[in-house]
Formats: sequence, C-alpha cells, structure tokens
Amino acid sequence: MTYSLQGKNILVTGGTRGIGRAISLHFARAGATIVSNYVRGQKAADSLLALAQQEQLQIRLCRADLTIENGLHNLEQCVAGLKGGLHGLVHCAATGVHKPFDELTLRHYDWTFSLNVRSFFDVIKRLLSRFSPEGSIVAVSSQGASRVVPAYSVVGASKGALEALARHLAVELAPRGIRVNIIVPGAVATEAWASMPDAQTRLTELANRSPLRRLVTADEVAQAASFLCSDAARAIIGQTLIVDGGAGLPV
Ligand SMILES: NC(=O)c1ccc[n+]([C@@H]2O[C@H](COP(=O)([O-])OP(=O)(O)OC[C@H]3O[C@@H](n4cnc5c(N)ncnc54)[C@H](OP(=O)(O)O)[C@@H]3O)[C@@H](O)[C@H]2O)c1
Repeated sequence: MTYSLQGKNILVTGGTRGIGRAISLHFARAGATIVSNYVRGQKAADSLLALAQQEQLQIRLCRADLTIENGLHNLEQCVAGLKGGLHGLVHCAATGVHKPFDELTLRHYDWTFSLNVRSFFDVIKRLLSRFSPEGSIVAVSSQGASRVVPAYSVVGASKGALEALARHLAVELAPRGIRVNIIVPGAVATEAWASMPDAQTRLTELANRSPLRRLVTADEVAQAASFLCSDAARAIIGQTLIVDGGAGLPV
C-alpha cells in the first residue's frame, strides 16, 4: 500500500542509511521531495543519490551534524531551498553506546541524548516557522523506551525522553495544524546492530520469537511512516505506531 505524498517536502534526519534510507526512498517514490540528512557516511549518501537519479526521484542530500551549531545551520540552509515550505519531518537519526551501566560514562550519556533527543528539539525549534499548516512530524523511537533491552539503558532512556517530548509537542503543535506521532519499529537488521553485543544471536532469537516468524524490514517501517505523513492520517495525533510484527505482545 502506498499513500500519496505528492507535492510534499519532507526532511528525513539520518536518511541515508538503514531505516532512514528506506523512508527517503519510499517517500520519494510516493511523490515527495526529500531532504535526506546524514553526517559521516558519504558512501551511503552517494549511493542513495545515484539510485535517486536512476529512478528520477526528488532526493537531495544534506550533510549536517545535528548535534552542533554549524550542522544545524547547514540543515536550515538545505531546507530553505525548498519551494513551498516543509510538510514533514521524520527524525530517524540516532546513536548510542551499548554497554552495561558500570561501563557507561557521562560522555556516553551526553553523546546519546544530544542526537536522539536534543536534536529533535533543536531541529523543530529552528524549522517550525517553515512548516506548512498541514505538517506531520514523526519521531522514530524504539522498544527500549518502554522495555528493558540488554546494554541499552542510556539509549532506552533517550528514546523515552524523545517519546515524552513528541507527545507534549503533539498537543502544543496541533492547533497550528502540525501533527506529531511516534513510530516504534521492532528489530530491523541494519548496520546499527554491528555495535550491539551478540547481535546475530539476538536477531535470530527475536525473529524466531516473533508471531511473524521473521524480523520486520526497513521498508515496512517506511510504509507505516508514509501513512503518518500522508493526508490519510490527518486525525492521528500524539499516537505511537508499533511496527514489530507483534513481537512485543505479552504472551
Ligand atoms: N535497527 C533497528 O533494529 C531499530 C529498532 C528500533 C528503532 N530503531 C530506530 O530507527 C532509527 C534508524 O535506525 P537504523 O538502525 O536505521 O540506524 P543506522 O543504520 O545506524 O543509521 C543512523 C543514521 O543516523 C545518522 N546520524 C548519526 N549521527 C548523526 C548526527 N550527529 N547528525 C545527523 N545524522 C546522524 C547516520 O548518518 P551517517 O551515515 O552519516 O553516519 C545514519 O544515517 C533510529 O532512530 C533507531 O533508534 C532501529
């Protein structure tokens, strides 16, 4: 199912790899013009652009570190070039240090929160005046916001904060016509798993335990995000859409 995003300008933070890349591609194929943000992974960014050119998709790259002033300034410049303002933001960019509590430092904490939560706050603050009155913001969270996941305490806490911020903004921005919602993907096999302990064993276990008997894909998460950014979701505000194939159901 493809929801039309024709004529919409949408910013995807962390939009060149993993789930963000699938969102950039899916949204552009649904007719949107995408600003796809990244910071270090030039190869992935270049390959996304090449694919977009091949398929004649409207995807523009925006290199910007969202944790520093310069990067946020770059992001503003990228969005300023869009005709007709901004109709959507999907905050996919995330980072994190996956260690047990004893090995975590305040530096790890600040690093994680600066991207996962503070940049969501900062990006919206800076771009709010550019939003069209029928805008949609989606915060990509994770199950660690509400469940205990091994070696995930600081990332989980940052996602909990992200969700709380998104719900408060949902109420405050709704009168301006801007909807804010949350997506919680189940485990998706992306490069992010490379830094997690016992990744392959855990992914196999998660797939076997899921009612779907497999992991969800980045494209399935992208489809859910496209619904939330489409006009079909115009009455959906402050909700959390879990895209995990039923893996999180208590059985
Ligand atoms: N994969 C999963 O199983 C899973 C499950 C639940 C939720 N999620 C959530 O889904 C989202 C995407 O996850 P993923 O697995 O696709 O992640 P990923 O493959 O690690 O991609 C992370 C993206 O964030 C960008 N990024 C990192 N630091 C940045 C910064 N300072 N400024 C701007 N962009 C930055 C990266 O850009 P560069 O390429 O330039 O580094 C990359 O595009 C995250 O919010 C994650 O928490 C993932």
